Amino acid sequence: MKPTSHAAATPKCRRLRAWCAIITFACVALNACTGQADEDQSDPSPPEMALTLREAAAPRLRVGTAIGGATTSEALADPSYRHIAAEEFSLFTPENQMKWRIIHPQRGRYDFGPADEVANFARSAGAKMRGHTFIWHGGNPDWIEQLSCDALRVELRAHIRQVMTRYKSDVIEWDIANEVIDDSGKLRMQENPFLRACGVGILVDAFRWARDTAPEAELFINDYGIEGVGQKSDAYVALISQLRGQGVPIDGIGFQAHILGRDGVPPSFQDNLRRFEGMGLKVAITEADVRLPLDAADQSTDSDVRRQGEIYAELATACRRLHSCQSFTVWGFSDRYHWAKSVNPQLGNACLFDANLRPKRFFSTFRKAISTNL
Ligand code: XIL
Repeated sequence: MKPTSHAAATPKCRRLRAWCAIITFACVALNACTGQADEDQSDPSPPEMALTLREAAAPRLRVGTAIGGATTSEALADPSYRHIAAEEFSLFTPENQMKWRIIHPQRGRYDFGPADEVANFARSAGAKMRGHTFIWHGGNPDWIEQLSCDALRVELRAHIRQVMTRYKSDVIEWDIANEVIDDSGKLRMQENPFLRACGVGILVDAFRWARDTAPEAELFINDYGIEGVGQKSDAYVALISQLRGQGVPIDGIGFQAHILGRDGVPPSFQDNLRRFEGMGLKVAITEADVRLPLDAADQSTDSDVRRQGEIYAELATACRRLHSCQSFTVWGFSDRYHWAKSVNPQLGNACLFDANLRPKRFFSTFRKAISTNL
């Protein structure tokens, strides 16, 4: 199989898409004739033979999505979901399937099944993966919480080797460390079992073990709430400088970009990306979503959806402008499977596609914003 290329769809693929487009158009027209309301702010424009997101962003950028939905592989069982994911995206992050609790649930026992499912899907779509994640305070099984530093180092080293080796040909970016700094700018020394047991030295080890195992992969540190210049992003400047000063191989910083629609993107976002780029780092948007207030019927207002489109475009444009930004990943692409509502039931509809898996009205604007290929 052709492994990485996503520059252009094959003619066969294009013909298929043309047929799908015609059928979709006919369905939309039929709904209009029968008077069925277009109740959910999807893109009403007639289908064009536009590039997909992954085609529009190529060759410089990969457009990614988290795969799996809130409950592991429910989404991957949905043919429409699979179809859109494979057509539009060239980078997949297992939403939960590589977290310790799933991939290494007991000491001495790995379960690669769920992560393999994502890897197989990525391969069949001719796409790559972002690996997520090794050192995090969430998603851990109880057994690692209790270990001494010595024991934890042995386990982590073996875990990094096992997991990275297995997905070596798939994963191009790894979140080695995730959310290690809290909202006040301090390392999570208590919450994070790795930092609790070993201190900051475990980050040094983890990045080095990762580099040794997969020298080709880019190694990231990743967090939310660091989009703007501020206490938390300043803390990352200091931490990364300190670690790189010791020769720790950190290649990039991931900005999760979980944005509240009513707040928008911090005005200093672009400058902040540039400041990390100026340190010689790659930057990546790793978990973008834009949550909107929901009414009792789980609907959002037209003006909120418009604003959501502007925010997605703003995030994409900021990334596209920088050579150091080579991937833009959304944390799920469809409101049907998105995680936001499980966090706060009053916020949701956070994705590019609605709960019927139809692109929202602003989809083509987003595609332009992400495009390096027009
Ligand atoms: C979330 C998943 O989306 C949920 O399904 C899971 O229940 C909890 O974790 N930051 C991260 C991601 O780095 O791993 C989190 O994913 C969302 C916030």
